[in-house]
Amino acid sequence: MVGMTNEREHKPILVLGGTGKTGRRIVERLNGRGVPVRIGSRTAQQPFDWTDQTTWAPVLRDMETVYVSYYPDLAVPGALEAVGAFTELAVASGVSRLVLLSGRGEDEAKAAEELVQSSGVEWTILRSAWFNQNFSEDYLLEPVRGGAVVLPAGAVPEPFIDADDIAEVAVAALTEHGHAGRLYELTGPRLLTFGEAIAEISTATGRAIDFVQASLEEYADALTAEGVPAELIELLTYLFTTLLDGRNAQVADGVQRALGRPPRDFADYATNTAATGIWGKA
Ligand SMILES: NC(=O)c1ccc[n+]([C@@H]2O[C@H](COP(=O)([O-])OP(=O)(O)OC[C@H]3O[C@@H](n4cnc5c(N)ncnc54)[C@H](OP(=O)(O)O)[C@@H]3O)[C@@H](O)[C@H]2O)c1
Repeated sequence: MVGMTNEREHKPILVLGGTGKTGRRIVERLNGRGVPVRIGSRTAQQPFDWTDQTTWAPVLRDMETVYVSYYPDLAVPGALEAVGAFTELAVASGVSRLVLLSGRGEDEAKAAEELVQSSGVEWTILRSAWFNQNFSEDYLLEPVRGGAVVLPAGAVPEPFIDADDIAEVAVAALTEHGHAGRLYELTGPRLLTFGEAIAEISTATGRAIDFVQASLEEYADALTAEGVPAELIELLTYLFTTLLDGRNAQVADGVQRALGRPPRDFADYATNTAATGIWGKA
């Protein structure tokens, strides 16, 4: 019937972290659909900074729908308070729908989810596995390019998820009916150890890339020697110990439930990313 659609009316959508791994992909897709978007980040036209509450109200003005991606991670000290205060302000400013990017297996992330779930707005939680794009757009890019990835990770596998899948689920939750009150556990279709993931990247690039298992202490010492800030080292060592203890070593069906199709496979990510040349020889 004319006029019947699964899409909501398009009011502007605020995308926090709109230049980051998931946010950038969400913004691209919303732009493609002609949905007006405001990016919430420190470098945006109207700057937004999680560490400066005076920047929050201006970005929330005239927004009804918000994608919340906290930086750097919901597990860091202060994250819960920040997400709680932001959610409260968002509700007071007239926001009626929040889509929260969360992480699997983190108690701190769960607490943030609960704040959003009890805020009175329509909510959707995207509880995500480790992103494929950490190998190409984050701290694992340089080690992959350098041909040796040293990590405190061993036999416990992770169901890596593609940020494009997260973005597609997020866009559905932001723009369509039928996703409010849903918690989607987002993983890829396969479990891979970090060693197996590196082996797939090595095959896709045609380059020798070694995976070396380190102890947590060796890893932290190496990061310190590279000049990585102490808070980031603390976060990474926390993630590699807590999340790789087996608790997340199973796939989930969030992408299928949200989009009615299976998630992208790591091998396709590796092939497509290798073809861009970012990892060297393809
Ligand atoms: N990476 C993973 O594997 C993974 C897995 C599950 C869940 N998550 C969750 O995803 C969220 C985002 O992590 P990510 O790794 O994907 O990062 P990301 O979105 O790639 O992070 C960068 C984005 O955050 C913005 N940003 C940085 N500092 C900021 C600040 N102080 N205030 C406001 N914006 C800031 C950046 O823009 P500007 O530089 O312009 O500010 C950019 O848009 C985290 O909450 C994390 O827990 C990540």
